[in-house]
Amino acid sequence: MHTVSSIFVLPEAAHTPVGAEVYAGLTSRPKTLSPWLFYDAEGSRLFEQITDLPEYYPTRTERGIFAANADEILAAALEDRPTQRIMMLELGAGTASKTGLLLRAAVRRQESVDYQAIDVSESALAEAQERIEAEIPGVNVIPCISDYTNGFDEVPANGCRRMVLYIGSSIGNFEPSDAVQVLRTVRQRLVPGDCLLLGVDRVKERSTLIRAYDDEAGVTAAFNMNVLTRINRDLGANFNPRLFRHRARWNNEQSRIEMHLESLIAQQVSIPSLELEVRFTRGETIHTENSYKYTEQRVHELVARAGFEVRRTWTDEREWFGVYLASAV
Ligand code: AVJ
Repeated sequence: MHTVSSIFVLPEAAHTPVGAEVYAGLTSRPKTLSPWLFYDAEGSRLFEQITDLPEYYPTRTERGIFAANADEILAAALEDRPTQRIMMLELGAGTASKTGLLLRAAVRRQESVDYQAIDVSESALAEAQERIEAEIPGVNVIPCISDYTNGFDEVPANGCRRMVLYIGSSIGNFEPSDAVQVLRTVRQRLVPGDCLLLGVDRVKERSTLIRAYDDEAGVTAAFNMNVLTRINRDLGANFNPRLFRHRARWNNEQSRIEMHLESLIAQQVSIPSLELEVRFTRGETIHTENSYKYTEQRVHELVARAGFEVRRTWTDEREWFGVYLASAV
């Protein structure tokens, strides 16, 4: 096919998911990059490392809540129909490191359970499936490679009540209005009575939040910076990560932690496959992530706007993290 004029035609690489995202993000003002770009193989490895950091409390705190309450969570999900069987679906399952606690509780209750693990990373799913099936007999893992924001395939519920797990405060990456949309998409796949288990990080003291996103060992900095290395590799760019620094800020008005990459000098970066030259002034930043922190009331609003009703809430001693069981209405 011929194009009449190439002036308005973007190069081929700009139509790949990574190319399109980088093109749009680095030509907008302020510059942005979407957090899903973090998760190449190295980024996924760094994220796993983050979850073990002393400063990064969310993973550990949520795991503690599941460890203490898994049986109660399952019972609450079936409160109105105690003889009903349950199946679980997890959005963005990753390596499913905390899910085992809930799956074990399901197996204690009903001997076996179907578990549909949804994630974009095939390798993470394969690892999760192998580990879970080896460690927890009775769990039937159904891996599903998909971006859950576009919905997910209907797996026959076989008369089971569905419980959708959306844990790890993954919802925090979305603007509040988009978060409602994500949960509405989930709601559309469910029938009244099915439930959602939502894990959400809470607003807390600023210094605690900042430390969690700017750790002593510099793992979060490496995680943030890795997006530049990824763009170099995938799009042939020439970012020099040493000429940027990691920044974590608490935005109180928006109730979110922001991560940025700040240019240490005035510089120009080439991205040949996008036919793009990107100029930075000294101190200019690329906004790479938002991590929204919720209050109790905001969670209730969010969940209600998506067509769910909160049934039960669990938290830790410090009330740093909330786990919400909601049913589809
Ligand atoms: C995976 C989105 C929940 O926001 O805490 C961790 C990602 N970014 N450290 C979060 C993240 C920096 C994480 N979520």
